[in-house]
Amino acid sequence: MNKTIETIKNHRSIRDYKSKKIDEAILNEIIIAAQSMPSSINGQQLSIVVIQDKKTKTLIAEHAGGQPWIAKAPVFLLFITDFFKTNLAAIKNGVTQKIHESIESTLVGAVDVGLSMGAAIIAAESLGLGIVPIGGIRRDPQAMIDLLKLPEMTFPVAGLSIGYPNSPSDKKPRLPLNTFRHDESYHKENLESDIDNYDVLMSSYLKTIGRSQEGNWSSRTSSVYKKVYFPNVLPVMIKQGFDNNK
Ligand SMILES: Cc1cc2nc3c(=O)[nH]c(=O)nc-3n(C[C@H](O)[C@H](O)[C@H](O)COP(=O)(O)O)c2cc1C
Repeated sequence: MNKTIETIKNHRSIRDYKSKKIDEAILNEIIIAAQSMPSSINGQQLSIVVIQDKKTKTLIAEHAGGQPWIAKAPVFLLFITDFFKTNLAAIKNGVTQKIHESIESTLVGAVDVGLSMGAAIIAAESLGLGIVPIGGIRRDPQAMIDLLKLPEMTFPVAGLSIGYPNSPSDKKPRLPLNTFRHDESYHKENLESDIDNYDVLMSSYLKTIGRSQEGNWSSRTSSVYKKVYFPNVLPVMIKQGFDNNK
């Protein structure tokens, strides 16, 4: 349809990078693209910590549960929800910020980070770079906060590894479009059979790429979602000031 949409539709996560550095001008363009996204009430309650130091990336790779591609990629962007900045606005105006005590701020922060990271992904991929988002940084959020000196009223939401792809990866098939696009109201009639069909497709895709041990979509997803896999998120969020109780 056009180049932008082609770039988006061609997305696949990359976990194997060349050692080639990313020019500062290119990196800055990606970050400006990320900052250009809309934000709730124009509050701009998000920030990006740019990490290029090898030692810091290696520590993050460990905190994320052992993800070597974080250390290998030349750049790691940490997207944080940032109500510290909006609190400075509150102080300047002589009022007490309350929103960070509400679960609404968690949603606002996550949505704004998601939009911004999406733009960074598209910008990077349009420039021939490869990326993989990293939610694994929420495995030990306190370690990320200490390592990167994140102030109160901030929280590390997700990271993004960026680098030049060393080897291409296959494009992962998605669930059928009708499980995603619901016209006029939610349609659940065919979901179970669509999931059955997608499981068959995913299991043959995983066989092709040598990862048959992962089973299929429903077996993998249910094995992850049968437990609270990052139990430190809530206590650390509360410690940072995000009470999430109203
Ligand atoms: C918010 C988010 C967090 C993710 N966290 C990780 C992660 O910690 N480690 C990883 O290797 N991949 C991670 N991924 C990548 C997903 O596994 C990947 O996007 C998904 O399997 C679809 O594959 P594709 O991106 O190649 O289409 C994450 C993706 C998103 C959107």
